[in-house]
Amino acid sequence: MALQFSEEAETKFQTLVSRYPNTHAALLPSLLLAQAEFGWISVEVMDYLAERLALNPAQVLATATFYTMYNKQPVGKAHLQVCTTFTCAVCGGFDLINRIEDRLNIRSGETTADGKYTLSEVECLAACGGAPMLMVTYSDGEIEYFEKLDDAKFDAMFAKLEARVSLLPQPAGMH
Ligand code: FES
Repeated sequence: MALQFSEEAETKFQTLVSRYPNTHAALLPSLLLAQAEFGWISVEVMDYLAERLALNPAQVLATATFYTMYNKQPVGKAHLQVCTTFTCAVCGGFDLINRIEDRLNIRSGETTADGKYTLSEVECLAACGGAPMLMVTYSDGEIEYFEKLDDAKFDAMFAKLEARVSLLPQPAGMH
């Protein structure tokens, strides 16, 4: 069956499109809305948005693939995004991503077998003063920042994640 926004998402879509001078300008928030609705940004979702916004599919593809905040594959209940741009790299960003990989027994770009966690390496999260920096996006749409995440804070951070994740439903698009 062809994709279609739910009634609630359709109302949000109409509202946000009405706020922008043209449909291209509405693409970024439309991608976020679609991600919340469908779980991730598949080619099918990109084609749907291109049609809805009267854009060339290549425009949608270029935008969706440029930004790491748009998931091009299904993600777990908690999407862990570690910054390894300059400040975070200098302050232990690569050590942090290695430590999370060891803890979860996955590599960057992968999802744990139980569907709880996805790990990604991302560019600057605009919180350089908190380096090394981890951003977690939860499947209910909430976002949490863990700043200056050194060894001393690591176990407490995971305890908090486990408690949070246990309350979340499996995200849309994850089977
Ligand atoms: S360099 Fe990591 S948040 Fe900016």
